[in-house]
Amino acid sequence: MQGGNLRIVEIAEVVKESPSIWTIRYRDPSPSKPGQFVMVWVPGVDEVPMSLSYTGDEKGITFRPIGETTRALSELSAGDRIGVRGIYGNSFTRTGGEVLVVGGGTGIASVIAAVEPFVSDGKVHAALGARSREELFFEDRVISAGAELHISTDDGSKGHKGFITDVVRRLLGSGWIAQVIACGPEKMLYNTALIAREFGVPGQYSVERYMKCGIGVCDACSLDGRLVCRDGPVFDGDFLLGSEDFGRFRLSPNGTRIPV
Ligand SMILES: Cc1cc2nc3c(=O)[nH]c(=O)nc-3n(C[C@H](O)[C@H](O)[C@H](O)COP(=O)(O)OP(=O)(O)OC[C@H]3O[C@@H](n4cnc5c(N)ncnc54)[C@H](O)[C@@H]3O)c2cc1C
Ligand code: FES
Repeated sequence: MQGGNLRIVEIAEVVKESPSIWTIRYRDPSPSKPGQFVMVWVPGVDEVPMSLSYTGDEKGITFRPIGETTRALSELSAGDRIGVRGIYGNSFTRTGGEVLVVGGGTGIASVIAAVEPFVSDGKVHAALGARSREELFFEDRVISAGAELHISTDDGSKGHKGFITDVVRRLLGSGWIAQVIACGPEKMLYNTALIAREFGVPGQYSVERYMKCGIGVCDACSLDGRLVCRDGPVFDGDFLLGSEDFGRFRLSPNGTRIPV
């Protein structure tokens, strides 16, 4: 764990990536790697885990307002202050050969930070999926990094009409991909991991669980004996596909198992 103390940071910039997706940038030189996350505290509201969508000195978090804390974040402006704890968790690692980076919905925020460093080690295919073209974001970052962009939308308004896992199957069928990394809705991750296993391609998948402490103390983020905050959030496909809960259940804030 690095940079674990709570730091109050000033928001440098708020970017509206799409009608439903916001990015907040703030200066924080703590070292970080693609896939790692921070606990973001909105004073007077709550604290939530957020992947780093930018890992340099000017960090970024990218989110969809879905509840109290993310809505409060979306109402902030440059000059406002938030708290951040972390950098927490493990990261995506490059293992060689051509890599397929898969982002579904807000999961794009987590995997995008891997695209830019990974292109320096060989060809990167980035497959981004969303419900409609209005909900896509960071296509420009994929293109300017020099990665090959593949798009799917559920309604067919851009790219392949259907799920991003259709694109994953087609690309893995080419036989060129040596590694998959992915983040997105758990059913998408589960199906991506199944397809990758079918083609014998190793994968790293970033998993979301409800978190309280973020540092391996409270057990809120337990997943089949591992803690997502401490041992993840990135897990390999063999562990996840052998897990009883992945793709099926998660723990609610009061600790009961509920369907994903
Ligand atoms: C390691 C990690 C990285 C994350 N990175 C991002 C990110 O980059 N961008 C982003 O938008 N979100 C990300 N999330 C999810 C984000 O933390 C939740 O959306 C946030 O906690 C919601 O808080 P809220 O108070 O706005 O909503 P709440 O009021 O807490 O929740 C609103 C609804 O969302 C559901 N929900 C809340 N948290 C989760 C969760 N973790 N998984 C599934 N459903 C949930 C609740 O059950 C409820 O139905 C990440 C989660 C983890 C664990
Ligand atoms: S959030 Fe407390 S142990 Fe993971």
